[in-house]
Amino acid sequence: IATIILMVSVAYLCGSLSSAVVISRLYRLPDPRQAGSQNPGATNVYRLGGRIPAVLVLVMDILKGTLPVYVSYWIGIDAVALGVIAIAACLGHIFPLYFGFKGGKAVATAFGAMLPIGLELGALLIFTWGVALFIWGYSSLAAIITVALAPLYVWFIKPLYTLPVAMLSILIIARHRANIVRLLKGEESKVWNKQGKLK
Ligand code: G3P
Repeated sequence: IATIILMVSVAYLCGSLSSAVVISRLYRLPDPRQAGSQNPGATNVYRLGGRIPAVLVLVMDILKGTLPVYVSYWIGIDAVALGVIAIAACLGHIFPLYFGFKGGKAVATAFGAMLPIGLELGALLIFTWGVALFIWGYSSLAAIITVALAPLYVWFIKPLYTLPVAMLSILIIARHRANIVRLLKGEESKVWNKQGKLK
């Protein structure tokens, strides 16, 4: 149990490292918490600074999920606790300790935390996100659709992890409230037209 508590804390602290804020500072871009959609995530860094910083943010945010979960799996922590550790990493991203608890939506971190379940799941999630993005052009909608389908995919691949993945999905969809409102009003920005500030 001590190891589990340790790994939950490590996961939360990893998640708390807001890659979008750090990378934006390095690239001297506007603070993603104040500009664009005001969300510290890869999508908004793409909007504000283009491809390279966005990819760096994406990779770092994915690793924040993958590393703590994979290390925990490797040291023999059981499935239920792995789910808790994955959720802790995402909560770190959403409520970061070192960044005034104002974090992002944990799409990339949740993806990273689910990766140890299997590469086929990873491929399915990327495929779903890509198809939804291709059809509609909204990063947020693609993420919402993908996380909504994730528990179903996991049910077929490794049913043991369905519940923790479903909890992650609920968390992420709830964090997209503002996006859902913008989508319904037709005010969400598509990834390929990087219009400036959103209301
Ligand atoms: O990854 C977050 C994405 O789903 C939405 O980001 O910046 O468009 O609110 P954003």
